Amino acid sequence: MKTLITGATGLMGALFLEKLAKNHPSAEISCLIRPTSNCSSLNTLNLKLNYLTGDSAKSETWRHILSEETFDTIFHLVQLRHVPTILDSLQTLGQIPRLVIIGTTGVYSKYNQYSVEYKTAETRLKSYPGPYCLLRPTMIYGSYRDKNIHKLIRFCHKYGFFPVFGPGNNLLQPVHADDLAKTLLYLWENPHIAGEYDLSGGTVVSFRELLALVSQLISKPVRQISLPLKFGISMARILEAILKTRSPVKVEQILRLQEDKAYPHKAAQKDLAFYPRSLEEGLRQEVELMRKKTVI
Ligand SMILES: NC(=O)c1ccc[n+]([C@@H]2O[C@H](COP(=O)([O-])OP(=O)(O)OC[C@H]3O[C@@H](n4cnc5c(N)ncnc54)[C@H](OP(=O)(O)O)[C@@H]3O)[C@@H](O)[C@H]2O)c1
Repeated sequence: MKTLITGATGLMGALFLEKLAKNHPSAEISCLIRPTSNCSSLNTLNLKLNYLTGDSAKSETWRHILSEETFDTIFHLVQLRHVPTILDSLQTLGQIPRLVIIGTTGVYSKYNQYSVEYKTAETRLKSYPGPYCLLRPTMIYGSYRDKNIHKLIRFCHKYGFFPVFGPGNNLLQPVHADDLAKTLLYLWENPHIAGEYDLSGGTVVSFRELLALVSQLISKPVRQISLPLKFGISMARILEAILKTRSPVKVEQILRLQEDKAYPHKAAQKDLAFYPRSLEEGLRQEVELMRKKTVI
């Protein structure tokens, strides 16, 4: 099976390739990477990796790659927003490989400004004439490379408090990166599977419960500082205006924290043998990892 992967150097791509190397040593995989991507850790894996350079947001990249080679499966892990570009290129070249796409449960957000591009991409995907599998993970955690809970744990450990904007009773269901990587492997091993799947974690918690769990696992008190929602939004707006993409908090994050983000994963359990670990177990593993790396 000829496979192309985008995002191989990212959190999910690297974990997926590690699992492939372990379970299918010497498998041949093509990776679309950027000229600046650091592939050093991938090169140590027991896989035959073929690097193709380009930008997955650009149709020139896709047309060039797909005119040189055809693939049975494309795992596009980079960004759901690039999907229309990929589909246009496939259509131009008359190819219909199986697609495995990582989307996001962010598509369900009531804030249209944050979900509209995801909705557009999903709509396009639904009209794809070939087989496809769309995975919608919730917030991903469980690695030093995760951009959410890892930062939250570090902050709580360092400062002993965390701001809670608004009531803090919104629901979350973070999913462990390793559970997602197992699913990617399962999909690679089972090329007949197609469908759309929400992939959430094993536990639903409120934001305040999450902070309490982190406090328990790092064995340190974490004060929950309640702040008005409007204050949080104004603060994030100012930080974003000054620091741009380096801002530690975004208006989107604060607004979306007010939304319930718990989604059942029954379909994935049935079709993909998806049995995610509990949040307590996953966080305990993440905290242990952080202690080992002396990050906390
Ligand atoms: N993080 C979450 O909580 C979350 C939740 C739901 C869904 N998702 C989705 O899950 C997917 C995987 O996330 P991740 O955490 O593995 O991401 P990540 O760690 O940020 O990695 C991103 C990867 O994409 C590559 N990349 C970025 N832009 C590219 C471009 N224009 N052309 C080619 N390659 C490009 C990066 O390459 P370089 O090495 O060159 O940077 C890197 O390999 C993403 O689609 C993300 O939107 C994430």
